[in-house]
Amino acid sequence: MTKLKLGVLGSGKGSNFVAIQDSILRGELEAEIKVVISDHATAGILERAKAYGIPARALPPSQFKTKLEPEIELELVRLLKSYEVEWVILAGYMRVVKKPLLEAYPHRILNIHPSLLPAFKGLEAWKQALLAGVSEAGCTVHEVNEGVDEGEILGQMRVPVEKGDSAESLHARIQKAEHLLFTEILVKISKNNLRINS
Ligand code: GRF
Repeated sequence: MTKLKLGVLGSGKGSNFVAIQDSILRGELEAEIKVVISDHATAGILERAKAYGIPARALPPSQFKTKLEPEIELELVRLLKSYEVEWVILAGYMRVVKKPLLEAYPHRILNIHPSLLPAFKGLEAWKQALLAGVSEAGCTVHEVNEGVDEGEILGQMRVPVEKGDSAESLHARIQKAEHLLFTEILVKISKNNLRINS
């Protein structure tokens, strides 16, 4: 059993962060969240981290929406290293990860995406699924590489698309699955039951 030292990055409300932290507190996941970092100073995830007594840090504002300037990403790497983070968990982090972070944490960055990849990469994947008329949706945890929503798939969870689903109702169902799946994958990693390249 390895105690995972996690750094969580998020841009939004942080429900995946909460699910992971709660599973640690229940003793189901052998891990510690060393720091939560957001690209938005007012993101809900930072407030939620503070409520658990976990260090919460915001990155300096970026002039881009979908990526960080290399110097800000280097600052992010410095922050993660200063908290001795070994695994970087992207939990609703809405920026494409570039070289500074990828090179600092090879095979140690995981993302959750709200679709059954490789289907529906990109933004609001649950809306894409609804529009496509599929009968099943879900979520995927995968390693992060230089592509968008690419990288080796580590696990998936399926949910049905129900008659009369709205974008909101489908997203809510997918999010419940996300919370279970992310924890499940991290438990497997901590128990050395999931081989990830080193
Ligand atoms: C999730 O649906 C995740 O799949 C997507 O962004 C959302 C984050 O939700 N990438 P939360 O901030 O964890 O509540």
